Amino acid sequence: MDPLASQPRLLVTRKLPEEVEARIARSYRAEFNGDDRLIGPEELAAIAQAIEPDGLLVTPTDKMTPEVIDALPGSVKIIATFSVGYDHINVPAAAKRGIMVTNTPDVLTNATADIALLLMLGAARGAYWGERMVRENRWGAWSPTHPLGADVTGKRLGIYGMGRIGQAVARRARGFEMEIHYHNRRRLDPAEEQGAIFHQTLEDMLPHCDFLSINCASTPETRGSIDARRIALMPRGAIVVNTARGDIVDDDALIEALTSGHLLAAGLDVFKGEPAIDPRYRSLENVFLLPHLGSATTATRLAMGNRAVDNLDAFFRGERPRDVVHP
Ligand code: 8YV
Repeated sequence: MDPLASQPRLLVTRKLPEEVEARIARSYRAEFNGDDRLIGPEELAAIAQAIEPDGLLVTPTDKMTPEVIDALPGSVKIIATFSVGYDHINVPAAAKRGIMVTNTPDVLTNATADIALLLMLGAARGAYWGERMVRENRWGAWSPTHPLGADVTGKRLGIYGMGRIGQAVARRARGFEMEIHYHNRRRLDPAEEQGAIFHQTLEDMLPHCDFLSINCASTPETRGSIDARRIALMPRGAIVVNTARGDIVDDDALIEALTSGHLLAAGLDVFKGEPAIDPRYRSLENVFLLPHLGSATTATRLAMGNRAVDNLDAFFRGERPRDVVHP
C-alpha cells in the first residue's frame, strides 16, 4: 500500500531547493517540475485539471490570472506562493472560489534589504561604469576630478513602503548616518519608526529625497505611481532604487529623468515585464542593473521553500496557515 496514498496531492510549478522538494516528497503526492521549464498559464490549468491537486506551490513566474484560477479543478483549496509578493495572483478570484492564498514574508527581508543598499551604493558610486572601466581596460591615469560618484553617508533617504523590507532598509541606512523619511499607508508606531520622518503623501516626501528606495507592494494604487510629475519633485541629482516591482515605476518617466540629468542615477533589481526589460535601460551608463536578485541567496531561498511548505502543512492539518494573504 502506497504510504502517501492518503496524502494531499500537490502541484509544484518550478524547481525548488533540493531539501524543500525532499521534504515535500515525504508528505505529499507531488508533481514536480524537474527540468524547471516555464509553464504557461493555459498549460498550468491543463496540468491541474489532469492531476486534480489539492494545492499548488507556485512562484512569481506563474501568472495566476482570474482565467487560470477559474480553470482550476474544484480539488484545489490552496495556492502557496514562493515569494512575499503576490501581485502575480488574482487573490479576489481565488477567494471567490474559496481557494486560500499564502506567501513567504520575513525570511527574505534581510536579503532584499541588502540588495537595496547594494543598489544605493552601486548607483551612487558607479559600480556599473567603474567595473566596466577596469574590465574593459579603459582605466586611464588617475584623475582628481574624473570619474566621480555621489556620497551615500549622511544623505536623506526616502522609503516608499515602510513594511518589513522598508524598515530593514532603514536599519541599514542608519548605519550610513542617513536621515530617514518614509511614506506608507499608515504611520508606524514610534518603536517601529525609530525617528524616521513620516510623510502623509509621496508629494510631501519626494522633495526630501537624495535617495528614494521603493519597497511597497505592487497594487492598483502603487502601479505607475513613480511617474514624471512625482520624479520632478525630487531634488536634482537624486538617485532612485527599486527592489519591489518594476510596474510601480513609469519607465518613460524614469528614463527621461536619467537622460536629462534630473536624476543622477538609478539602481534597479526589478523591471516591468522582466526579464524582457525596457531595452533603453541597457544603454544608460548611470543605471546599475541587477536580475531580480532580491532574495537570491541559498539560505533565503531554502527558508522561502520551508515557509511555503509550513503554510501548506498547517492548511492540510486543518489549521490556519501563518501567512494567509487577503483579497
Ligand atoms: C522572488 C520576490 O525571488 O518574494 C518576492 O516577492 O520578489 C523575490 O523573492 C522573485 O519574485 C522571483 O521572481
